[in-house]
Amino acid sequence: MKVGFGCDHTAIDLKKELMEYMTEKGYECVDYGAYDAKVRVDYPDQGQKVAEAIIAGEVEKGVLICGTGIGISLAANKVPGIRAAVCSEPYSAEMTVRHNNAQIIAFGARVVGNELAKKILDAFFGATFEGGRHAERVQKICNIEAKYNK
Ligand code: RB5
Repeated sequence: MKVGFGCDHTAIDLKKELMEYMTEKGYECVDYGAYDAKVRVDYPDQGQKVAEAIIAGEVEKGVLICGTGIGISLAANKVPGIRAAVCSEPYSAEMTVRHNNAQIIAFGARVVGNELAKKILDAFFGATFEGGRHAERVQKICNIEAKYNK
């Protein structure tokens, strides 16, 4: 599976470590920046890049990291069709795939440690969407989006 990674200046080292971790597990990791911890960037830019890469079919899923994971996920969720979930622990990371069919996992480099971040990725990428009643609920989310994107 191809996975897009994006972060702001707060999370350069964590992103690098997680990309290495996922590469070792056999995932093809694509880096959408940022690249330099000394250069401040605006998290919406990386959130948008990874979200658009998913919609374009360049990558299947995404990992977004900023200080809290919140700003970068809010930006990604503005791209129609994207479901980005901020999860600071593995249970939510698993459930957001099983029930919400989220394509992007987000968290904060100032919130979770490196080893917990790996556990969060294990849970997210190890889960499968259950469909059924959950598909109907996800469709309702899409309907809200469609209503305001006319
Ligand atoms: C950057 O200082 C910080 O605002 C950003 O990383 C993120 O936490 C925003 O949601």
